[in-house]
Amino acid sequence: MVDPQPQIEPYLEAAAQKELRISHVIETHVQADHVSGARRLAEATGAVVCLHESAGARYPFEPLRDGQVLTLGNVVLTVWHTPGHTPEGISLLVTDRTRGDAPWFVLTGDTLFSGAVGRPDLSGEGTEARLAAQLFESVQRLLSLPDHVEVYPAHFSGAPCGKGLSGKPMSTIGFERRFNAALRIPDQEAFVRFAVDGLPPEPPTFAANRRQNLGEA
Ligand SMILES: [Fe+2]
Repeated sequence: MVDPQPQIEPYLEAAAQKELRISHVIETHVQADHVSGARRLAEATGAVVCLHESAGARYPFEPLRDGQVLTLGNVVLTVWHTPGHTPEGISLLVTDRTRGDAPWFVLTGDTLFSGAVGRPDLSGEGTEARLAAQLFESVQRLLSLPDHVEVYPAHFSGAPCGKGLSGKPMSTIGFERRFNAALRIPDQEAFVRFAVDGLPPEPPTFAANRRQNLGEA
């Protein structure tokens, strides 16, 4: 399970229905927009919570590092550290070995959305220009994937984690390469200006959500 919402019952029901065991609960980043269901889901299932190794969570978690491969039956996840929205953000390349030996889709968290990129100002660190520069490198890396790779972000329009998100919840690398305004900016400096410009104020609940998701509250 990746990025669970606070209500974990639907995940438990879905797993039971398909006779699947939830072994890993992976957070693409320390969430700010909602209280994560990761620890509750892990407690209910005996799964481990996984975060990037740089996440400063105050509870036990399995640290993931860039390039790490998790084999879960026929599904293979490859971890890419894609900082920018937050310092510890990851994307997960997903390969279905029953179909082929290359990734079929990528879970991009809040790094790359359909029609937008993640906001670099929600990690509570006040380092948005530095994070925006990292975001540029991260999205360039995602663009190294072939056009046919499907993109499943953590949000679509209505979420405050980026600006200009499409209402379409998924996309492809090829479509975003061609039509995502942020990805058409070729140099880092202009990208940073674009990424930090015109951001709405951080919603008031975000700081408390972050603290709770880090195990500090
Ligand atoms: Fe986020």
